[in-house]
Amino acid sequence: MHQDIEKVLIDEGIIQKRLDVLAGKVADDFEGKPMVVVALLKGAVLFTADLLRRVALPMQIEFLNVASYHGCTESSGVVSFLDETLPDVEGKVVLLLDDILDTGRTLEAVMKKLEQQGACEVKTCVLLAKDIEREVFKEADYTGFMIGDEFVVGYGLDYQGLYRNLPYVGVLKDSAL
Ligand code: IMP
Ligand code: MG
Repeated sequence: MHQDIEKVLIDEGIIQKRLDVLAGKVADDFEGKPMVVVALLKGAVLFTADLLRRVALPMQIEFLNVASYHGCTESSGVVSFLDETLPDVEGKVVLLLDDILDTGRTLEAVMKKLEQQGACEVKTCVLLAKDIEREVFKEADYTGFMIGDEFVVGYGLDYQGLYRNLPYVGVLKDSAL
């Protein structure tokens, strides 16, 4: 285990098993539809690669660079789109992937943007969802794991740019914060 990790919340094997289930659901729901995956950078990168290699459907994969966290452990609520051009989703069925659903503002903002760009349907899929009352975006269409209201890192999630490469989801020691 990494020296800065206090405890492992979801270990690698459990994540990978859960992805089999999520991928199965996605494959059933998207079968026969021209599908565009839009994954949010950078947090969803590991999740995206591991999930999509299990989905044997034709698909286009796009990444969107969105910032909402700004380096602290509290969500700022301000979502900025950092790409010059957005993926072409006009008339397409979109699967939107993110690492974690916290306040819901990120998915809310991206969802709106994709609809403005002409997507005909947007389904959302997150590895993690915090079990909190949300004012916006109550839940995703597909959720890997529900977790408590605590700050986690690993498997794509970072603290100040670090820990994304950990194969598990864990909680940092106070000394690392
Ligand atoms: P929301 O807009 O508040 O739902 O936040 C979503 C974004 O905040 C995610 O894409 C993450 O980048 C970041 N985030 C929220 N909670 C955590 C966490 O516990 N650890 C690391 N990043 C988080
Ligand atoms: Mg993120």
